[in-house]
Amino acid sequence: MTRIGFGIDVGGSGIKGARVDLDTGEFIGDRIKILTPKPATPEAIAQTCAEILRIAQWHGPVGITLPSVIKNQFVLSAANIDPSWIGINVGELFAQHLAERDVCVLNDADAAGLAEARYGVPDAAKGATVLLTFGTGIGSALLIDGVLYPNTELGHMIVGGREAESFASSAAKDRDEIGYTKWAARVSEVLCEIERLFNPATFIVGGGISRKADKWVPKLSCSTPVVPAKLRNRAGIVGAAMAAEQNLKP
Ligand code: BGC
Repeated sequence: MTRIGFGIDVGGSGIKGARVDLDTGEFIGDRIKILTPKPATPEAIAQTCAEILRIAQWHGPVGITLPSVIKNQFVLSAANIDPSWIGINVGELFAQHLAERDVCVLNDADAAGLAEARYGVPDAAKGATVLLTFGTGIGSALLIDGVLYPNTELGHMIVGGREAESFASSAAKDRDEIGYTKWAARVSEVLCEIERLFNPATFIVGGGISRKADKWVPKLSCSTPVVPAKLRNRAGIVGAAMAAEQNLKP
């Protein structure tokens, strides 16, 4: 019997959900996407998640990602989402909107890390692995043999006197209108610093820009092997569904 879960990935521009085959990490049926409401308040997002579940007619447990630190199911940070999320008990919030089901909320990059380690690049994810996602910000997941150390925020590390995501996210590349070579030099600075402090066996790099990995990964100058993420924009949803399956509530 196929094990099926459901994950929802809350992003800055879209909220996406799908049924996930937990044996293969593939979606079952179509991904449902609704534009992120503006302002992206907890109430508005919770209503959108409820709408996705209604469209999908999914009544089982669900995993939901947020671009935030989630500790004991409380939101502790809101770097790229509405500040009104800070201090919210997501267990209570989603219980009001997604009644009668188990909800596990976790950080978006942590979800991506779980998914890549199980279905994406399992060999690369052996031992100490750091996954970074490059988008509006830089998300991070620290894993040992696929087991997550939750809520790392390496995108906010200070590197060369500035915050990593402020100069090395893919949004920073667009903002500063620089090409892959210059941007790869910035990413290398961040990777070298992480390497110096954490000495991982492998880096996995994800986020939308990993689709063009051939343009920048070969230009990186750190010593640790860098492997592009495989699941791409599926990773958040799949990792969220895995969290619900494991009842993982960081
Ligand atoms: C947030 C992280 C998040 C990352 C990617 C950062 O700004 O602090 O929690 O994982 O962006 O969305």
